[in-house]
Amino acid sequence: MGDQKSIQPFLLLLLMLMLLNRLSQLWAFPFSPSLDLDVTPRTTIFHKGMLSSNGFTGSSQNYSTLLLEEETGRLYVGGRGALYALNTSNISTSANLTIDWNASPEQKKQCLNKGRNNQTECHNHIRFLQRFNETHLYVCGTNAFRPLCVYIDAERFNFSSGFEEGRDRCPYDPAKGFTGLLIDGEMFTASQYEFRSSPDIRRNFPFPTLRTEEAPTRWLLEADFVGSVLLKESINSSIGDDDKIYFFFTERSQEQVAYPSQTKVSRVARVCKNDWGGQRTLQRKWTTFLKARMVCSVPEYELHLNVLRDVFVLQGRDVQSSIFYGVFGLEWKNIKASAICQYAFSDVRRVFEGPYMEVQDSKWREYTGKVPEPRPGSCITDVHRSQGINSSRDLPDSVLTFARRHPLMAKQVHPVDLRPLMFKRSVNYVKIAVHKEPALDENLYTVLFLGTDEGWLHKAVEVDGETHIIEELQIFAKPQPIESMVTSAVQRSIYIGSHSGVIQVPMSACQRYTSCYDCVFARDPFCGWDGRVCVEISSRPQRSNLTQDISRGTRGCKENPGNVIHRRRAVMSGDDVLLQCELRSNLATPRWTLNGKELQGYGLSTGYRVGTDGLLIIGARTQQGGSYRCFAVENGVSVLVYLYTVKVHTDPYFPVEPTDSTEPTTISSPVVFSTASPTEQPLPSPPAPLPPGANFQTYRHMEAIYISLVAVLGGLCLVLTVVLLYVSFCTRRESRSRKFSHQNLHVLGSSDRKRSSHLELKTISSHCNGRQGRRSISVPTFGDFNDSFLQIIPGDDQMSPAKTPPPAPPLPNPPPLPNMDYANGLSATLPSVLRKMNGNSYVLLRQADPEGMSPLYHSFTEELNRILEQRKHTQLDMHPDESSI
Ligand SMILES: *[C@@H]1O[C@H](CO)[C@@H](O)[C@H](O)[C@H]1NC(C)=O
Ligand SMILES: *[C@@H]1O[C@H](CO)[C@@H](O)[C@H](O)[C@H]1NC(C)=O
Ligand SMILES: *[C@@H]1O[C@H](CO)[C@@H](O)[C@H](O)[C@H]1NC(C)=O
Ligand SMILES: *[C@@H]1O[C@H](CO)[C@@H](O)[C@H](O)[C@H]1NC(C)=O
Ligand SMILES: *[C@@H]1O[C@H](CO)[C@@H](O)[C@H](O)[C@H]1NC(C)=O
Ligand SMILES: *[C@@H]1O[C@H](CO)[C@@H](O)[C@H](O)[C@H]1NC(C)=O
Repeated sequence: MGDQKSIQPFLLLLLMLMLLNRLSQLWAFPFSPSLDLDVTPRTTIFHKGMLSSNGFTGSSQNYSTLLLEEETGRLYVGGRGALYALNTSNISTSANLTIDWNASPEQKKQCLNKGRNNQTECHNHIRFLQRFNETHLYVCGTNAFRPLCVYIDAERFNFSSGFEEGRDRCPYDPAKGFTGLLIDGEMFTASQYEFRSSPDIRRNFPFPTLRTEEAPTRWLLEADFVGSVLLKESINSSIGDDDKIYFFFTERSQEQVAYPSQTKVSRVARVCKNDWGGQRTLQRKWTTFLKARMVCSVPEYELHLNVLRDVFVLQGRDVQSSIFYGVFGLEWKNIKASAICQYAFSDVRRVFEGPYMEVQDSKWREYTGKVPEPRPGSCITDVHRSQGINSSRDLPDSVLTFARRHPLMAKQVHPVDLRPLMFKRSVNYVKIAVHKEPALDENLYTVLFLGTDEGWLHKAVEVDGETHIIEELQIFAKPQPIESMVTSAVQRSIYIGSHSGVIQVPMSACQRYTSCYDCVFARDPFCGWDGRVCVEISSRPQRSNLTQDISRGTRGCKENPGNVIHRRRAVMSGDDVLLQCELRSNLATPRWTLNGKELQGYGLSTGYRVGTDGLLIIGARTQQGGSYRCFAVENGVSVLVYLYTVKVHTDPYFPVEPTDSTEPTTISSPVVFSTASPTEQPLPSPPAPLPPGANFQTYRHMEAIYISLVAVLGGLCLVLTVVLLYVSFCTRRESRSRKFSHQNLHVLGSSDRKRSSHLELKTISSHCNGRQGRRSISVPTFGDFNDSFLQIIPGDDQMSPAKTPPPAPPLPNPPPLPNMDYANGLSATLPSVLRKMNGNSYVLLRQADPEGMSPLYHSFTEELNRILEQRKHTQLDMHPDESSI
């Protein structure tokens, strides 16, 4: 027995050392605590909490193509094997029209014989759906790898013609990047159409069709197209300019770039609408094709986001004031990060008027020689016409030969302010829509709607060059990428298409904000407080009594005691008690006072721990009784949310059972505490102080406690071993995916280190045990605890420097785990709600409702609280423990 006693702790120590060593490898990844530009969504709305959204699901899936026509009040939807015409005011209404258009069984069979996937590819996916003329739409579908196109009578919503060959207009592959425009009866498309063909930008009709050039210089290299737009630059042009079509894509980089680990570059290309190709040189090829690189980098991280995922063009009053927004990501699939960059078309034009690149000694270099006249790549203008050049066919061969070899511009297109409008790590935005909304202060605010690859929508507002994410909404309960998105200013709705259906979401849902502070702090340009409720300001003709503060999100609200929740707590001296204080906003931080005095320091020595959902009093002492106030501090304003009156009893009349030696074991029972962080020092809670007069039992007790202690330690050992294996398994997985060249290592090192917190989160809930991974996904319920662990995820703790730090008390910013001190495991498991601290990463985990019964989720804290309460109930049965006043 004595041997065992000495060996056991030794083994444990060894294990602990191994574990700490392992973890230090995980956590001590070098990173500079410089800037943290990540933006935290203020509120998180889960699917259940979505208000007034309308859904549409037809018999098909993959609702990837949307065409919104405000004038006719219709939203046309192209899905897999079907087309729909929905009512924009409510897409759920039953009056919707449908055209079924499936690939024929023979065609499906042929597709199957080609080795294609019969579940996804061998169907008719609608890829192109646009207005052709006043009466007709034009549609193309992949038709099980044999594309077809057809005209549709828009009013009756049926086919009005026979099918046309679609092989040069529509990609075969439903997942291949594709963009197209139908302008004045002319069709322009860009894609890699066939299975093995080169990517191409085409004018499909009318005759003559035009294409990009392949020799001697390939104009496009594995291009993946995301968007295109027509800018009518001929309107009011003083030089008789032509309209231009811009294409946006990512392609393999041809030129030398500064970061050799990246193989792709984002591009904008343009052609002139009235290009007719050359006479001898560049016959049936574009004579005006030019492309340039688009840059979207985060200077602080030296991070170059090189993959363009989507664009949204915001047309200004005139073309020159038009701007576009690009959503960028990284080419490594295993790293989630997004940046939104904003570009001015005037900058794009300047780049296209600048120097060209040229291949010299098989390297792309800036061309410094003489440029022929008229300038290659420019549209036909009055200057050309005055020289007798009426169309591209009249261009001299020298110009066309030059154009053929110089498709790439030397200068890059940089974003406005040379930096992203917004950077978000661990989220992949895939779609963007931009809306301008006038606020109460009469300013026009830019509202960004961003769709993620997991079915979430982020709504953000740009204020003085900074982006504030008002909310994140879980549009689709099942994680799936958002495939298409359009906004209607008339219906004040966003229509979102995805694999499983189309959802219509109102641009604002002000009634979700329940207090003046909530309404004002949100900084939502759509919403204002009218003294009673938060309302859509557009719904009020009389606006003078409304309160809104977009620029700062602080002003206009008065103290409202009605919103304060008042509770009483009675506890025994020496007990632990949790005072809950959950904050609705992810940007708020808690602040606690006792009897009006600031609670200083939440360390162990003070007997307090604070989490984002409450304050834990550890081993309550008499002087810790009193009146506790919890304030939510947001935008520098403190708002009282909870008031607790705590009484600490030392009353000897309360029967305290002296024999309760199982008590500490209960508290550190494996169900609760062995599930704690693997880094936790597995110190069991100290044995409860023995009541006076129990001396004769002390020896027996000590022994019993010691044995149970050893048993618990043994149990912990086992759990830690499992965790160790688990962690090492996950680390190996992680390290396998870390294959960056040294150039990016520094950068990615830092983001990687930060990422590791997310990885850790995923490790808990997803990757390693196969659960769905995302922060919105609940942490395992109690039943799952045996094969998972719950822990505080260290925050990416720096606060955004741009925001003024609230005068909050020193918050226990979750430090890297190894430095964490633990009382008895309580602190490690205290927080329960998955949310972010100011430092912008998800710190806490929300626990799933074990029975799925409670409408309110049922947090781990509450569970812990209940255990604590139960313990007290056994002691304090006569005092109702908590009552609302
Ligand atoms: C859409 O629904 C609204 C109200 O339900 C109705 O007034 C309108 O006529 C419908 N529009 C179309 C195009 O059917
Ligand atoms: C839209 O129509 C559906 C079905 O008719 C109805 O249940 C829903 O309440 C409507 N939504 C709105 C916002 O009117
Ligand atoms: C698709 O092919 C698999 C095997 O090749 C077959 O089992 C399945 O039934 C097919 N599904 C359809 C919808 O044809
Ligand atoms: C629109 O185009 C269709 C298909 O070519 C044609 O049948 C129809 O007459 C056109 N309508 C108008 C108003 O030009
Ligand atoms: C279509 O939807 C299914 C899920 O319903 C998805 O697996 C598939 O990738 C989608 N196909 C395309 C081309 O988006
Ligand atoms: C261009 O058009 C002008 C007037 O329309 C005409 O006089 C001239 O001959 C044309 N030039 C060529 C090269 O076709």
